[in-house]
Amino acid sequence: MARRKKIYEGKAKILYEGPEPGTIVQYFKDDATAFNAQKKDVIEGKGVLNNRLSEFFMTGLNTIGVPTHFIKRLNMREQLVRACEIVPLEVIVRNIAAGSMAKRLGLEEGMPLPRPIVEYCYKDDKLGDPLVTEEHIAAFGWASQQDMDDILSLSLRVNDYLSGLMYGVGIKLVDFKIEIGRVYDGDYQRLILADEISPDSMRLWDMETGQKLDKDVFRRDLGSLTDAYTEVAQRLGVMPKQATHAVKPKLIN
Ligand code: C5P
Repeated sequence: MARRKKIYEGKAKILYEGPEPGTIVQYFKDDATAFNAQKKDVIEGKGVLNNRLSEFFMTGLNTIGVPTHFIKRLNMREQLVRACEIVPLEVIVRNIAAGSMAKRLGLEEGMPLPRPIVEYCYKDDKLGDPLVTEEHIAAFGWASQQDMDDILSLSLRVNDYLSGLMYGVGIKLVDFKIEIGRVYDGDYQRLILADEISPDSMRLWDMETGQKLDKDVFRRDLGSLTDAYTEVAQRLGVMPKQATHAVKPKLIN
């Protein structure tokens, strides 16, 4: 059997050449990293949970007309996605002050923001993904003004959709990060949601208790990351509620 071609290996995912031209297989690893990979661990089952959760969010977004790269889930750890050219920006949407914005502006974590705030970071691990303004983005040609208008409206739609979904299961969507891809249809280019949407790239707080159900559990050593992600998956109906850790299931790789 021919070995498939690895296109890219990131901190949490591996991309392989897909079965058809213009497709990619996205493999979710169990590796967890934080603080630009200064803190690292392998969290058994994280990749499986993120594959399922990202499928769930992307499918829902597709249904309401938000274009995404997601085609279908292939197995426990892999999904087939549309190949695209990644815009070199991390787009962060915030509803509540937390993390780097709280630190940067001296805000108390948990303070609701007057309106959703969208921030852009330049995607470069070596530089630690620095915050940039639309001036940098335009001047360096990372995205056009039309792209930025589309990215802003897409990000706010994703925020509305995810906030409502989470609210329905007693979770506050504090903030999240998305990545945008460019695809070409003949002479036209369009922007689509790419990468993943999972608790690795969001902050999720229980509405009643404030318990953290996202990667901050790993970043701040607050307990079991798989328990937190499983809780999110169960509340959303992505995983059955009766699946407990009483008899630890062996994950199939
Ligand atoms: O650290 P910061 O507060 O800027 O993160 C904002 C949101 O973006 C968080 O939900 C975090 O998980 C996500 N993020 C990410 N990948 C990065 C930076 C931030 O998923 N490289």
